[in-house]
Amino acid sequence: MDSWIDLRSDTVTKPTEPMRKAMYEAEVGDDVYSEDPTVNALEEKTAEMFAREAALFVPTGSMGNAVCLEVLTRPGSEVICDRLSHVYNYELSSMAVLSGLTPRVVDGPQGAPFPEQVEEAIHPPLYYVAPTGCISLENTANIAGGRIFPEKRMKQIVALARKNNIPVHLDGARIFNAAVALSKEVAELTAGMDCVMFCLSKGLGAPVGSMVLGSREFIREARRVRKLFGGGMRQAGILAAAGIYALDNNVPRLDQDHANARRLAEELSQIDGLEVDTETVETNIIMVGTKEPAPGAEKLCRRLESYSVQVDPLGPNLTRLVTHLDVSSEDVVRAIEAFRAAVK
Ligand SMILES: Cc1ncc(COP(=O)(O)O)c(C=O)c1O
Repeated sequence: MDSWIDLRSDTVTKPTEPMRKAMYEAEVGDDVYSEDPTVNALEEKTAEMFAREAALFVPTGSMGNAVCLEVLTRPGSEVICDRLSHVYNYELSSMAVLSGLTPRVVDGPQGAPFPEQVEEAIHPPLYYVAPTGCISLENTANIAGGRIFPEKRMKQIVALARKNNIPVHLDGARIFNAAVALSKEVAELTAGMDCVMFCLSKGLGAPVGSMVLGSREFIREARRVRKLFGGGMRQAGILAAAGIYALDNNVPRLDQDHANARRLAEELSQIDGLEVDTETVETNIIMVGTKEPAPGAEKLCRRLESYSVQVDPLGPNLTRLVTHLDVSSEDVVRAIEAFRAAVK
């Protein structure tokens, strides 16, 4: 049987031998005492990459987002976020459970709202309405198909937030995908945000970990909240070493994932029964619709399994494919053949 090709997510990558070696050799200490030299090195390195004063290593992207929202707001406030955003759809309402926040949802195109939509969602400072606590944006927008947030639009929203004295959080789980696709620095793409979260454990290929970036004062408070939420880790240098390795070795290669995604999208768009808008494939995520004569998404995914291709349905007629470090260009050719066979 052929080896599995896992297109469900870029979170499925396994650490490579050299990454494991770096983890094995990592110097460690107790990070709750800020004494883990490898965690400290990772935090310094990312702060520099993002041109920020400080950074914090957190176990997951979800915790990073939760920490940021908690630090930026007070209970009873609203978080302006997009209908497709991860904080709204896939974080178990943690903003409500952990921080007493409610989402004020806007419906932007491809997960990237217009400034006018955000402006309309901002509450005036009246004592009888919930204050707007913060604006949370996502780049790339996962469920929108890995779309890159248009830079001009993002700058306009940041300016609007400044005018209204509202902080902005960026869920930049895949900001390196955006940076590589645009040939820009992450510092440039995230300038003006009060805080940024990005994931080491997605396209960058580390097994665990995300980073939060902000001012020294913000990170001091974020460190307290990370502990409050149960995320204070001890000899976490073993994990941080994987993050350092990922940042040193796996950033430019995201281009290959993007090229693989484009190839997949182009070929799948030619198959009768599949709907792919190739124009929207900007990074490593492809949304694939199904229609007659192809079966529904659930059945299609089950059939793909018999060709050793793993894909999850996202709706009755929708699947999402994600390319990553463990998907080679040969795997892409095999996956295309599997789709051809499975739609019949
Ligand atoms: C856009 C976005 N934000 C946050 C997260 C959460 O990351 P984690 O799975 O590490 O909690 C994800 C995970 O898929 C994501 O896609």
